[in-house]
Amino acid sequence: MPIAVLVSGGGTNLQALLDAEGSGTLHSGTVTLVISDRPGVFALERAAKAGVETLTLDRKALGREAFEQALARTLQERGIGLVVLAGFLSILSASFTDRFAGRIINVHPSLIPAFCGKGFYGLKVHEAALVRGVRLTGATVHFVDSVPDGGPIIDQKAVRVLRGDTPETLQQRVMKQAEWVLLPRAAEKVCRDILRGRG
Ligand code: GAR
Repeated sequence: MPIAVLVSGGGTNLQALLDAEGSGTLHSGTVTLVISDRPGVFALERAAKAGVETLTLDRKALGREAFEQALARTLQERGIGLVVLAGFLSILSASFTDRFAGRIINVHPSLIPAFCGKGFYGLKVHEAALVRGVRLTGATVHFVDSVPDGGPIIDQKAVRVLRGDTPETLQQRVMKQAEWVLLPRAAEKVCRDILRGRG
């Protein structure tokens, strides 16, 4: 099943998917296209290095409507079966998520419903967790619907907050222990379910 990965930054979750493909953990789908919503991000270099086609659709320059139209057209033309949001920071409109219902998944760096929704992304999530003083945080992979970070949960993994953690050290631990493990596993499961007609 052709997979498109949508990125906005460093692309460590994209790398986890590519590595999982290399090791065979992810075998029911293939990353055939990486799309960035902003130019020049490192994730595009990771994709190019792996020989995966890349496309930049500049969300700021295009505006939401033109961006989503171009995105939908591209996904349809390429026969994409699953869209994986991997460190993708734009919010998709309801008309877009409805159109691809059950075929878009996202990784979020907290145990949803904590620290999620509009304004909670990247390091901000870990800053909020540290301010609140939680002892456990983690990551969630979920289907994407019209509510930001509100779609059905596919899998979660808890990660301990350690004394002396900074947003940066916590982010690294959550990525390593949770996100990079959960996302390829969830992508494989959803691809398999779609292929078996259960998606
Ligand atoms: C990751 O922690 C990802 O979960 C988060 O951005 C970070 C960068 O990922 N995404 C969100 O906060 C989305 N709401 P990357 O290294 O894969 O680019």
